[in-house]
Amino acid sequence: MRTSDLDQEYTKMQRIPSLVSLCVRAVAMEIIDDGHFEGVIELPDELLDSLMMNLPPLALQGLHEHYVCSSRSFHSKSVNGGNKRQRFDAKYEGFDGVWKALFKERWPENFKRVELINKVDGAGSSVDHENDWQQLYWETHLQNCLDEAAERAMLPAFDGPYWGIVNICILNSIGYSATKADSCSKLRTLWFHCNKFGRYARCLRLSNVLCIPEISGLLVTSNLRAMVFRSIKCKSHVDGVCDLLRQNRDTLKSLEFVHCRFSSTSFSQICSCIFLEAEPHGIKSFSIKSSSVADGKKSSLPADFVSFLSSGRSLESIHLSDTSIGSKCAKWILDTLLKSSLNLITLEISDNDIRGWLSKVDRRPGECSSLLGPKLSLKSLSILNLRGCNLCQDDAEDLNYVLIHMPNLTSLDLSDNPLEDEGIRSLIPYFVKAFEKASPISDVYLQNCSLSCKGVTEFLESSQTLREPLNSLSVAENNLSRFPRCESPQY
Ligand SMILES: *[C@@H]1O[C@H](CO)[C@@H](O)[C@H](O)[C@H]1NC(C)=O
Ligand SMILES: *[C@@H]1O[C@H](CO)[C@@H](O)[C@H](O)[C@H]1NC(C)=O
Ligand SMILES: *[C@@H]1O[C@H](CO)[C@@H](O)[C@H](O)[C@H]1NC(C)=O
Repeated sequence: MRTSDLDQEYTKMQRIPSLVSLCVRAVAMEIIDDGHFEGVIELPDELLDSLMMNLPPLALQGLHEHYVCSSRSFHSKSVNGGNKRQRFDAKYEGFDGVWKALFKERWPENFKRVELINKVDGAGSSVDHENDWQQLYWETHLQNCLDEAAERAMLPAFDGPYWGIVNICILNSIGYSATKADSCSKLRTLWFHCNKFGRYARCLRLSNVLCIPEISGLLVTSNLRAMVFRSIKCKSHVDGVCDLLRQNRDTLKSLEFVHCRFSSTSFSQICSCIFLEAEPHGIKSFSIKSSSVADGKKSSLPADFVSFLSSGRSLESIHLSDTSIGSKCAKWILDTLLKSSLNLITLEISDNDIRGWLSKVDRRPGECSSLLGPKLSLKSLSILNLRGCNLCQDDAEDLNYVLIHMPNLTSLDLSDNPLEDEGIRSLIPYFVKAFEKASPISDVYLQNCSLSCKGVTEFLESSQTLREPLNSLSVAENNLSRFPRCESPQY
């Protein structure tokens, strides 16, 4: 240990708590135990700030709620104290800062992620993106409680309603250890946390064991915008999912299923509880990942899925990744989307073996009519992801005739498909046109497409019509030292 380190250690030992900090701690205890806020509000600003920063989350929540109530009465009565009101408003922002610090301390990784998203969304984003750290704090806390309950319920020894008990570590992190014994038993139930903090939840992930009949009752105060369901496989879980979907139908914007296995009946059931004849749903993003849908190998999916797709004017992105759908089903989905005049922005059908999916497309030149009909198009589609679909040269040729129906495409991902040089060559007529457009295609991914240097060079030559350079291009994992039928490389 160097001398300076020793010095530091020594100073740390010497650091004695100040009288003020001791008082703050005592008041914090008082607030948690007895919920007395009256005197606290009259404290001078400095003390109050320092108090706020030292309260555990549970107590801060109490104080914050108290402030919201008092502030409301100030605003409505508009009593004498303009000063007082100003002080209240300033405190409001103070609270947000403290919640932010608490969030950062408890979930440093999540914090980084949220900050990153903010940076990306950055300027020009709507108010929707602005963070409410109190909301984020309790949403994440609730997610922790639910995850822990699910973990416990999945243990082999699990027998009964213990899933409703919240782990002591989670409770400690919100200030549980400081509370009195009588409130403890209540605090330890999942019901308490759902009931008290459920209204802050906007996005939740739920695994199958939580999709029980009680769950919609537990989350009755939530207005969920995004839901992720994991490992939904049996009928009883599907019922739980449907209850939640119905309950949040008005607010739901994003729905995702991961590692699920649906029979055609259960998939139908899920689609039908989002789709109501009278009113279109508001879902913007729909994803199924690493899951299977019983009818995926047939030529269509349940009729309720068509209704779901075509009733959603707000639908902006569809992701079907590793869902074991076959070529017929993929074609059927494309046809359905083309007919439904959605304002779709992103379409992903990836990691599904759909070789030959477009084989019935009409290749008559000029008309470009195809089986799809002349007037159909996905006008707004801007991102198409067909990664890992086992597409070969013939598929690339057919794709040429389909991409014409997507005039606004700016990003195309064909990675992990054995297209070979012939495949990429047959797409060049499309690329030449797409590069000339007013808003040209700008992101092209051709990673691991069994291309040689020749294919890549031909592609690059076609991009000479571009007015601006490509935003991104990937030709990684292709053997570029191969020169088939091109003994002396010219490029
Ligand atoms: C085409 O895409 C751009 C953004 O890339 C978008 O602003 C525009 O509205 C889209 N056009 C149509 C017809 O949807
Ligand atoms: C490359 O693509 C093939 C399919 O064409 C796939 O099987 C393989 O896993 C891919 N390789 C990598 C490294 O992703
Ligand atoms: C790439 O192709 C060359 C020439 O055909 C061959 O010698 C080399 O082993 C290949 N590299 C890989 C990684 O496949």
